[in-house]
Amino acid sequence: MADKTLEQRIAETQDRFDRRLLEAGDLEALEAVRIAFLARKGAIGGLFAELGSIAPEERAAVGQALNRLKTDATERLDARRRELGRAPADAAPTDQDITLPGIHHPVGHPHLLTIVQQQIEEIFLNMGFDVAVGPEMETEYHNFEALNIPADHPAREDWDTFYVGEDLLLRPHTSPVQIRVMERSEPPVRVICPGRCYRRDAQDATHSPVFFQVELLWVEEGLSLANLRYVIDRFVEAFFGPGYETRLSGDFFPFTEPSVQLHMRGPGETRWLEIGGAGMVDPAVLAGVGYDPETITGFAFGFGIERMAMLKYGISDIRTFLTNDLRFVRQFRD
Ligand code: DAH
Repeated sequence: MADKTLEQRIAETQDRFDRRLLEAGDLEALEAVRIAFLARKGAIGGLFAELGSIAPEERAAVGQALNRLKTDATERLDARRRELGRAPADAAPTDQDITLPGIHHPVGHPHLLTIVQQQIEEIFLNMGFDVAVGPEMETEYHNFEALNIPADHPAREDWDTFYVGEDLLLRPHTSPVQIRVMERSEPPVRVICPGRCYRRDAQDATHSPVFFQVELLWVEEGLSLANLRYVIDRFVEAFFGPGYETRLSGDFFPFTEPSVQLHMRGPGETRWLEIGGAGMVDPAVLAGVGYDPETITGFAFGFGIERMAMLKYGISDIRTFLTNDLRFVRQFRD
């Protein structure tokens, strides 16, 4: 051995270490490899002791090779130890049971209502609509007057509204966003406005005092109910998939003329679920925002987001959206 250079022996030690590491099949065998090579009196330690006996001009290069061997051996030993299922023994104080399961930090995810709102937005963005938002606290003007519902109009009763102040209310529908969008834009206008609404409604399986709607508004020359029907059907197809039926029937809203009501039912269902209202924007509403109702036409709808989610995911009670029972919430991951 003595006639071999230190460099040759470093290479040989490396080979031997590689072989032994490969053969070590359990932690005990691995520990034996560590002692044989990396302990103070192990093979690598022994080579370090000989550094002093070689020519000074070679010492730096050989020393580097030796250091590399040591670092590499230590890293690979640790990696193999982790592979065999344990953290390095010297990384854990002995009074800790490192076999105990770790603390699980659950990762959150969007709520079903958020997921559904994003699905709706994506469908309409693909159809060329923009997404607009408006305030949840509204003025009487935007919520009622501009929508052709004057103060003494009996239709106000259809929106059981929470008032926050003299002229301030929690919006009971997303229709005021139509007004805000038209006030600041010129036709053509193509937007959807999803958002939270409030009503003084008693809670039951299909009503909640807090709920979400998505409003749609398309204003341009030459639109008709047929265009509305087309947009609804394309949306339903994209959001629900095949097998869902839609039904439009006559209705009344002060801000549309004519007005219709959308009902839907899922595959194999017999009962129709009311999804929301729609219609051709009333000329008085168009005139109110400064459009010329002689040339400009428009249609709009306001649909309940929970209602649509209930139909799509087979949820029977609207209250489950707000109680945040994790057994419900966790069923709907993206
Ligand atoms: N805002 C109405 C409601 O909440 C729904 C509605 C009806 C919206 C007709 C519209 C519409 O945009 O054209 O009851």
